Amino acid sequence: AAIVEHVFNVEDVVVKPLCQEQMIPSVNRSLPGPTINVREGDTLVVHVINNSTYNITIHWHGVFQRNSPWMDGANMITQCPIQPGYNFTYRFDITGQEGTLLWHAHVVNLRATLHGAIIIRPRSGRPYPFPKPYKEVPIIFAQWWNVDLAVLQLRPAPIADAFLINGLAGDTYSCSKNRMHNLKVVQGKTYLLRIINAALNTHLFFKIANHNVTVVAIDAAYTTPYVSDVMILTPGQTVDALLTADQPIGLYYMTISAYISAHPIVPVPTDRTINGLIVYEGAALNTSPAKTTMPEGMNQISTAHRFSSNITSLVGGPHWTPVPRHVDEKMFITMGLGLDPCPLGTKCIGPLGQRYAGSLNNRTFAIPQTLSLQEAYFHNISGIYTDDFPNQPPLKFDYTNFEVRGDNEYKMLFPERKTSVKKLKFNSTVELIVQNTGIITSESHPMHLHGFNFYVLGYGFGNYDPINDARKLNLVNPQMRNTVGVPPGGWVVLRFIANNPGAWMFHCHMDAHLPYGIIMAFIVQNGPTPETSLQPPPSNLPQCSRDPKIYES
Ligand code: C2O
Repeated sequence: AAIVEHVFNVEDVVVKPLCQEQMIPSVNRSLPGPTINVREGDTLVVHVINNSTYNITIHWHGVFQRNSPWMDGANMITQCPIQPGYNFTYRFDITGQEGTLLWHAHVVNLRATLHGAIIIRPRSGRPYPFPKPYKEVPIIFAQWWNVDLAVLQLRPAPIADAFLINGLAGDTYSCSKNRMHNLKVVQGKTYLLRIINAALNTHLFFKIANHNVTVVAIDAAYTTPYVSDVMILTPGQTVDALLTADQPIGLYYMTISAYISAHPIVPVPTDRTINGLIVYEGAALNTSPAKTTMPEGMNQISTAHRFSSNITSLVGGPHWTPVPRHVDEKMFITMGLGLDPCPLGTKCIGPLGQRYAGSLNNRTFAIPQTLSLQEAYFHNISGIYTDDFPNQPPLKFDYTNFEVRGDNEYKMLFPERKTSVKKLKFNSTVELIVQNTGIITSESHPMHLHGFNFYVLGYGFGNYDPINDARKLNLVNPQMRNTVGVPPGGWVVLRFIANNPGAWMFHCHMDAHLPYGIIMAFIVQNGPTPETSLQPPPSNLPQCSRDPKIYES
């Protein structure tokens, strides 16, 4: 195994993906940022030098961080941010996973431009569990705003001006017509597309005109080969898919478009479809490309559901492990949007003059302000968090058809704001039934767990039925992943083994939902040996500044 070393110089740069110049924070002056190439078993060392004007952390999304919980880069959960003018070196092993992941800033909004690919190939001499592709191509989706990032602090976040494929907005906009991602292919060859949705807030459909793809991995876990003409990725998800250039020589659009899934608060426009291009070698460049038809209306929900729920893990493949049958800790978690008191001196647009808040089991997560959660836990410092995150919501009701009926239900509109965590015994098997609710709105939320992959045992619509739905769970070859879209008005059942001591976030990966507090955290307690215990933090772990204002999630 090798040591792979990178320098991430974070600095502001002027870019113009769309119509006007905009100053953004970047890594090494590029958008998207640098691609990290490693092999499974390598050690990754990244020196982050913060020459920007922002407080930052870098999170290695989906990397297990076995025995390196201080390197997770979760702002105020595992570290205080790296302040302007400071630096920090992340150092960790990448083991037990292969495929595509992403790195991104883990401070609200900054992920918009601070992100890039992590490509984990098999150890040398080990093959892929699929035919070797002719070439591999990272394809990174992002959302773009022609405004200063500070404007994105608004709740709800403003609608994006465009999407980007590998930093380019393409020909949907006249001002970016000539800046479109081009993938040159040779007829008959097969390409491995390493697709990443780094968009802040939008699930994206992805389609290539006249071509099917074969999905071979999701979230850096191999899948049974799955053939599809369309894909959907929530923010934070990745798909590795084989594309064979098996069509007549020509030009073909690759298109991304937003999944709109019933969101009455923010009117998501339908016209933010953008294109990249597949260019066959020998094609006439002045012909018009073959077009895609993207899923629309109710068709979106069924397409998303089909793609998300049909994929299965590659039983017996590299790093595959069977589902544990025994559950030690079972949690039922409702997610909802509620209302928070309006801070003095601000304008709030909630229906009762409040501002929107998010919740899990009716708790709105408050990000610690003076010390990271993991440091508070390790040093036994009280007052930073409470370990009373409940295994159930305070009320049972018809989650998918919520209307205020009485005082009790009304309480579910006003979640309790605190930093509450759930402690887990080392090596316990945890089952999470995550129920989306119709409190105020129903949309698909992409729930992401740090530090682990979970098995997705089932997806469904309506209220989870603990008898009938439980019977249908897939315990044989369920997906293994780190981010799952909980269907609008529906549920997912997840299972994971808490075998990595430390503090791990579980949160909605829509960036706009971080300040809303759709977050909770697990603290996995120590195992019996030093190797299974949380070690002291590195001596150069960034310290918090005395001005807590800057840590707003
Ligand atoms: Cu990709 Cu907590 O994040």
